[in-house]
Amino acid sequence: MSDLEGLFLDHAAWEAAVADGDPVVYRVQSSPVPETPRELPQSITTISAGATGGELWMTKGHQHPDPQGEIYLALHGTGGLLMFDGDEHRWLDMTPGTIGYIPPGWAHRSVNVGDDAYSFLAVYPGSAGHDYGWVLEHGMGARAYRTGDAFELRPYGG
Ligand SMILES: [Fe+2]
Repeated sequence: MSDLEGLFLDHAAWEAAVADGDPVVYRVQSSPVPETPRELPQSITTISAGATGGELWMTKGHQHPDPQGEIYLALHGTGGLLMFDGDEHRWLDMTPGTIGYIPPGWAHRSVNVGDDAYSFLAVYPGSAGHDYGWVLEHGMGARAYRTGDAFELRPYGG
């Protein structure tokens, strides 16, 4: 949770969550494949179920400095793939077996919208690089909130 500073809209709720045990929001297991040109590194990300200030637990989100496509495959649980090109956002529901394609130039974040852990496989070009600061500067176009048994997307600012 402490690594997600500045990303949840409700800063006070984020601070309280950090003070209250600093829970693990997500874990990433990465392949030993080098992040160099022509390689295809992989990772499996598992997002715990939860919400902070009503905002569903999520990954930081990132942009690739060298814009290239990326493939996600949902493995377990129920999630969503939020993409943002700096202007418009897209949302793809992810359930086990769903393939998500992230076109070059779209920032991306994953969200757990269910009551169980959500995990997915990512495969990306080794030369793409990762820019996590882009999201702090530009946002993600939308945020996902828990609403009873479901969820809804709201504008990024509120
Ligand atoms: Fe990526």
